[in-house]
Amino acid sequence: MAFPADRPRRLRTSPAMRRLVRETRTDPAQLVLPMFVAEGIDEPQPISSMPGVVQHSRASAREAVAEAVSLGLGGVMLFGVPEHKDATGSGALDPDGILNVAIADARDVAGDDLLVMSDLCLDEFTDHGHCGVLDDAGRVDNDATLEIYGAMGVAQAAAGAHLVGPSGMMDGQVGVVRAALDAASHQDVAILAYAAKYASAFYGPFREAVDSSLQGDRRTYQQDPANAREALRETLLDVAEGADIVMVKPAMGYLDLIALVREHVTIPVAAYNVSGEYSMVEAAAAQGWIDRERAIDETVTSIRRAGADIVLTYWAAEVARRA
Ligand code: PBG
Repeated sequence: MAFPADRPRRLRTSPAMRRLVRETRTDPAQLVLPMFVAEGIDEPQPISSMPGVVQHSRASAREAVAEAVSLGLGGVMLFGVPEHKDATGSGALDPDGILNVAIADARDVAGDDLLVMSDLCLDEFTDHGHCGVLDDAGRVDNDATLEIYGAMGVAQAAAGAHLVGPSGMMDGQVGVVRAALDAASHQDVAILAYAAKYASAFYGPFREAVDSSLQGDRRTYQQDPANAREALRETLLDVAEGADIVMVKPAMGYLDLIALVREHVTIPVAAYNVSGEYSMVEAAAAQGWIDRERAIDETVTSIRRAGADIVLTYWAAEVARRA
């Protein structure tokens, strides 16, 4: 029997050799830390389904942003948790609403050393928990929602956001937000579009994180997990409407779509390693069933290897500290 002529194992013989030939690396600048900032609290509150993640007070959020700057993270993605919600999500437009003040705080701390990004969606602010306003029949009203999104984008830009992240999956949202920003002289505020966002069970812990009041699900606006071509359709629409960065979400079960999108656009591609993906690893590690640090690094590496230039992850600070 002939011995093999080609021996791939030669390149795995030592840590130094493996480091030399490693194809995928993650720079802290490619990581974005999602953060929850709650109104009316003085101390950060733990989120039981996301061990290690908190609802920040305004003061603790400032500290976390300062730490993110010192770690060299690419940005923070801010979510607001208001005390009061209503049918139209009016807290989203109020300059004194929790998300807008959290944006201003973050920008005050970060300046231009790190990018302040904000979730542009109504679900944290509506009493029914949907991403848009409802019509008389109780359906999410696409076009009425778009008008609010435009104003919300301008409010977030005025508060200091460098990028806004429309995440409601309303048709036309990127174009409407772009036009509203431009009309308000915010040409330099960029749009990180949640382009291919699926109706996923893996957002479960996020619902606790933002005290969501959602009844039912989001399947009339978020995508069916069974569909891949549709992700491309959604993404190309967002590019045409003026997205600066497109995002796939969730990440782990959707690596094929990250790779597909990466192949078809020239702008940066982001992926969101969502709450349920975080909690599964944390829960298994807490049981001693997997090596926590290796599982985290493998998760982020896999998302990068699939083609994401930018990764939103609740582990951003930890991964940056290890980098
Ligand atoms: C919508 C939004 C959601 C997430 C980010 N933006 C919830 C949803 O669409 O149901 C989920 C993020 C996560 O699970 O980590 N504002």
